[in-house]
Amino acid sequence: MQSVKQISDFEVQELVRKYKMAGFVVFELLNDIPDQNTLLLISKRLNLGKPFVPSIYSSTQKIYERTGLNIIKVNDGSHRAFQTNNDQKIHCDGTIEVLGKIKTSILLCAIPAAVGGETIIFNSVAAFYDLLENDNSRYIASSLLDMQALKRVAVNGNNEEYIGPAFAIKNGEIISRFSLDNTCDWDYSFENVKLLKEAYALLVDTIVPNSPFYIETKLKCSQGIIMANDKISHGRKGYIDKYFKREMIRGLFEKDLE
Ligand SMILES: [Fe+2]
Repeated sequence: MQSVKQISDFEVQELVRKYKMAGFVVFELLNDIPDQNTLLLISKRLNLGKPFVPSIYSSTQKIYERTGLNIIKVNDGSHRAFQTNNDQKIHCDGTIEVLGKIKTSILLCAIPAAVGGETIIFNSVAAFYDLLENDNSRYIASSLLDMQALKRVAVNGNNEEYIGPAFAIKNGEIISRFSLDNTCDWDYSFENVKLLKEAYALLVDTIVPNSPFYIETKLKCSQGIIMANDKISHGRKGYIDKYFKREMIRGLFEKDLE
């Protein structure tokens, strides 16, 4: 986009069109500094409302900025996902939020990693739909709709948890919180939900580089990605910093891109 202060109607339409088609869209800033203010301006132009701050993160924990955004960068903090340069397995943002709460997640790259740090996208809803469409897997896959299908535990703070379905059907649409990262306790649900282990295995089999539901992309400086957090899962590959620390700015929003 030429200027975030004057994003054209055409640019907005194109962003929305691509987002609706794939569950995400990558954009590039041509004349703006990739900072918090820029991300806020983009979200405002897209009518996403104020950034969402999960209630478990009080301002004293220094995870969220005053703006309601996060700076994802390795420094001396303690959030296990934000403060390492290890890979981060796929997940939906909002560990203990109810399914569908955070509809949109934006990542803006201020400084890319010297090596690695690719963003991973897995179209969970499409992969799940594919299993439901198939007579051989429909019954097994439906175990992911069980109210106890996925337990996630916040890895920061007081270990708050939320147990709920991995997928749900709401207003005729499938929504997802399918995640595999270090917040997930799948073993808990495997014990409680019949056929869940089998359904999990079928889905995980599709998270491979040549899968139609999987893509990796490395965001360059000033590039960002807008993701449908209630439909696709995302992750990150491990990375190495050289002269500068990789820095991403993140915003979570309860509204959908429309
Ligand atoms: Fe994330």
